[in-house]
Amino acid sequence: MAKQKTVYICQECGNESAKWMGQCSACKQWNTYVEEIKVKTRNRASNNDIEIKNKPQKLSTIAMNKEKRILTNISELDRVLGGGIVNGSLTLVGGDPGIGKSTLLLQMCQTLCAKDIHVLYISGEESLGQIKMRADRLGVNGENLTLYTETNLTLCTNVINDLKPSVVIVDSIQTIYSDEITSAAGSVSQVREVTSSLMKIAKGLGISTFIVGHVTKEGSIAGPRVLEHMVDTVLYFEGVRSASYRILRAVKNRFGSTNEIGVFEMRDKGLEEVPNPSEYMLTGRPIDCAGSIVSCCMEGSRPMLVEVQALMSSTNFGMPRRNATGTDYNRVVLLMAVLEKKLGMQLASYDSYVNIAGGLKVTEPALDLGIICAIASSFKNISVDPKTIIMGEVGLTGEVRGITMAEKRIIESKKLGFKKCIISKANVKGIDIEGIEVIGVENVAQALQIIF
Ligand code: TYD
Ligand code: MG
Repeated sequence: MAKQKTVYICQECGNESAKWMGQCSACKQWNTYVEEIKVKTRNRASNNDIEIKNKPQKLSTIAMNKEKRILTNISELDRVLGGGIVNGSLTLVGGDPGIGKSTLLLQMCQTLCAKDIHVLYISGEESLGQIKMRADRLGVNGENLTLYTETNLTLCTNVINDLKPSVVIVDSIQTIYSDEITSAAGSVSQVREVTSSLMKIAKGLGISTFIVGHVTKEGSIAGPRVLEHMVDTVLYFEGVRSASYRILRAVKNRFGSTNEIGVFEMRDKGLEEVPNPSEYMLTGRPIDCAGSIVSCCMEGSRPMLVEVQALMSSTNFGMPRRNATGTDYNRVVLLMAVLEKKLGMQLASYDSYVNIAGGLKVTEPALDLGIICAIASSFKNISVDPKTIIMGEVGLTGEVRGITMAEKRIIESKKLGFKKCIISKANVKGIDIEGIEVIGVENVAQALQIIF
């Protein structure tokens, strides 16, 4: 019988087993066994045998080499990466299938090739013909781009070692498999092994590597987020497939801030950058319509104006319907309770629908006052001045509380032509922006008095 090269290890308690089992015999947890390659441990005779390679050093004596970066010239992507691709870094690009990961990376190939940077694109998902077809559609035609379709890890690493490109793209990690592990491609043990092999090459040869990872139904990349701690940067590409905008978000970045987002729009000729997302989100907004309010949320360090819509219609049943799209349902119900109790609005005989236009998902409390005003506007059937922006957190007693980065949000509102801003009194102090009237309110009643 061939000697077994792998063992199954319980991820909860570390118990080892020769076979896969549903339940761990030691800690009794279910579904915790993952196949791993058996590592031979060396017998060390004594501590004296250990070679000393690294010595402790004083922080002040460490020489710093500034990391070399390659700009992709897609400014939204460069920003999220923290100022370009770092040499020898490993980046994971995650997202739902079909969201546009391959498209984004192929477009990146084009801009890199234009700068004479050699890129190797390894695809385990599509045939050469398919990639060529997509590349033609996107206008990608670089001489420096090499395509390779393979799913075997050893063959892939051989090709990388031979070609020694500057950038490697692996699309996707779930399709590449290592011979040494018997479990199927895409399993936790496979993706971990493949990633660690790619990392060794990336660090060894100084090749910047991008790994595409599909997100599973539970919202994690290939099971329990096994890859995130191994790689340098984790980017998530998100968006609603029916809406055309896409947001690229850094979840982890060893070379930059994780506050940055990049906004793209999926067009028939690929992804296009959206340099001004607020303007994009507000296009098509109804003017002088009851139930429509503009508020501002923060996406990382960028303010983004959004339209909050509410519709109140008398209910035909004993139990009114409550619905919230793009925001937290429980929060909306709570805000409606504040309106009923503190302002005496009888909402019980109305069905209510709240929607954040554009398919965006916002759970930030800064939108509270906007939601309340939209509901009140629809309830009273009175429209609100379209040049007024409303933001602030609302507490259970109906007080309007301060929000973070108020100045940034107000500046963004002014840029988009808003003339009046209703915000918590706590935020008004020290803000002096020309061209926009900033009105501080203490509670919801005051805010409603100003807008109606
Ligand atoms: P893709 O990059 O293949 O997604 P992923 O790699 O994340 O699975 O994107 C595929 C979707 O994008 C597909 O549904 C069609 C759409 N698309 C466009 O709308 N325009 C385009 O130019 C391209 C290339 C794709
Ligand atoms: Mg793809």
